[in-house]
Amino acid sequence: MTDFISLPFYDLLHEDGHVPGVREKLPSLLAGIRRSILEIGAGTGLITTSLADSTPAEIFALEPSTGMRGVLLSRLNERTELLKRVTVLPYDALSVDLDEPVEAMVMINVMYALEPDYRKRLWPVLASQLEPGGLLVFTWRDGGAPQPRPLQESGSRQVGRHTYTVLSEILESSEEACKARYLYRITEGDKVINEEEIIGHAYRPVRETIEEELVGAGFVQADATEGFLSWRLA
Ligand SMILES: C[S@@+](CC[C@H](N)C(=O)[O-])C[C@H]1O[C@@H](n2cnc3c(N)ncnc32)[C@H](O)[C@@H]1O
Repeated sequence: MTDFISLPFYDLLHEDGHVPGVREKLPSLLAGIRRSILEIGAGTGLITTSLADSTPAEIFALEPSTGMRGVLLSRLNERTELLKRVTVLPYDALSVDLDEPVEAMVMINVMYALEPDYRKRLWPVLASQLEPGGLLVFTWRDGGAPQPRPLQESGSRQVGRHTYTVLSEILESSEEACKARYLYRITEGDKVINEEEIIGHAYRPVRETIEEELVGAGFVQADATEGFLSWRLA
């Protein structure tokens, strides 16, 4: 696991990244959901608390990474009223086995981490955990994997005298996968205090692929706003 390198940067850079837009759009995508939501890849809980604030639903926040889960639990512990309503599931999405099917599932910025074979096996598992007519909502960027490009800054935040910066480079890409290099850098002025590197793969299937997989697992496409796909179990 490479979480121990990227985790300290996560909230610093994502709170200003995808999170505000997702927080703004999710409530209307989940309008009418009142009973239960499974959040897949809940991370540090940046979206979990928004789900809890915008719906009365019981939430199952699934997160396999111990480090991410630790921050998620700390966040929930700061909001003690949420400890009664949010259950944290400490395993990966394919292992999910709920006591009863949920009304909706949400997956925010997780698809990139799922290898194609894993992803194909995941949809039928999710279908088995969703009530008939239930909703599956996830973030979506069309167009396949990004093309190779040189190292560039993805974001930066000041913390006291230090600057936390993430840089990324696309090393190789094919139709749906790319190999990327990330640098996690802490500087004080011009001096680099610490720098660590992660090289990993990311996946971005094209729309036809995802549609074929979801239809095959019994889902029907529903309306969604820009940046999301929304599906219902038939
Ligand atoms: C970029 S983070 C997104 C976290 C959170 N959804 C958010 O938007 O802030 C991706 C998350 O997906 C989780 N993840 C990766 N593979 C997973 C899998 N197979 N099942 C469930 N979660 C997974 C990672 O541990 C990580 O917390």
